[in-house]
Amino acid sequence: MATNCLTLALETSCDETSAAVVENGRKILSNIIVSQVPVHKKYGGVVPEIASRKHIENVLPVVHEALEQARIKLNDISVIGVTYGPGLVGALLVGVSVAKALSFAQQIPLVGVNHLEGHIFANFLAHADLEPPFVALVVSGGHTSLVHVKNYNEFDLLGQTRDDAAGEAFDKVARVMGLPYPGGPYIDQLAKQGNDQSIKFPRALIHEGFEFSFSGLKSAVVNFLHNAQQRNEEINYADVAASFQFAVVDVLVDKTVQAAHQLGLDKIVLAGGVAANSRLQAALQDRTNQEEIAVYFPDLSLCTDNAAMIASRAYYQYLAGNCSDLYLNAVPSLQLGS
Ligand code: KG4
Ligand code: ZN
Repeated sequence: MATNCLTLALETSCDETSAAVVENGRKILSNIIVSQVPVHKKYGGVVPEIASRKHIENVLPVVHEALEQARIKLNDISVIGVTYGPGLVGALLVGVSVAKALSFAQQIPLVGVNHLEGHIFANFLAHADLEPPFVALVVSGGHTSLVHVKNYNEFDLLGQTRDDAAGEAFDKVARVMGLPYPGGPYIDQLAKQGNDQSIKFPRALIHEGFEFSFSGLKSAVVNFLHNAQQRNEEINYADVAASFQFAVVDVLVDKTVQAAHQLGLDKIVLAGGVAANSRLQAALQDRTNQEEIAVYFPDLSLCTDNAAMIASRAYYQYLAGNCSDLYLNAVPSLQLGS
């Protein structure tokens, strides 16, 4: 393997069009992200058809900018990585088509990347010393999964959500409270002024291994708000945000620490958009303070969707000889580790 392996990656699975250049899987040379959040905000969520169209408009300028900012030419690239699932099919297809075209035209090896594995690999960009094995908690708008990362290419799914993802619950509760989309960061901020003990919201599946469920909690918060509104009671929204967030974080932290204990692992890694949650980061660190367990999470900009994390994952797949051919297709419900 050449000492200097440059990966160009594309990420278009949801509402961010991103391209990045990463050196040897660990060093970011560029990471361009064009967010469609302002476009989808007025609909209160991502509109798939609009997302696909925006990706088509943005993808080539974003790839050019990523190469330009990294000061390299396409023929300096050794690997092309692209997210092929999970995600919105029309959105994924834009990245997959462009990556295949670039790979074919320049004869550069192509690597299809699982978006969730990419989120985990954001931590390799943020922490130069981080090595597997570890437990990863992947918490995003679409997923809540506990994963045993055995090495760079072997993952065991320990458990996942049976219904809503953690980020989805944040976004839905925020919407009912009249906060903008995506609501996670707004709840995080608002909760800082509230009392997390003021309302006792339910914790689901607390004794059921590593499975999660957040739809009951979401409904409990929505019912609480509706009942209070019907009775004309004044609502302290900061208390609701803090109590809801506490209920989510409590279960996430509990199960993640349990998984580390059960597997005898001394590292916990947070990944996905909800990994940016300040309460989740603090609670995990608090809980593991007295133990020999180190907690890692990516920098804020690497928590949410970006192509640098996809480049890191693609690099390690390439090293293992796990490349794709030009039949690579979008797989909207791709499972982790498959
Ligand atoms: O990973 P991501 O960018 O997209 C998906 O792959 O889903 O995650 C987006 C999710 C949204 O649900 C957003 O509300 C949530 O991450 N999020 C947060 C925070 N920042 C982003 N949730 C809670 N607290 C935050 N600070
Ligand atoms: Zn994501």
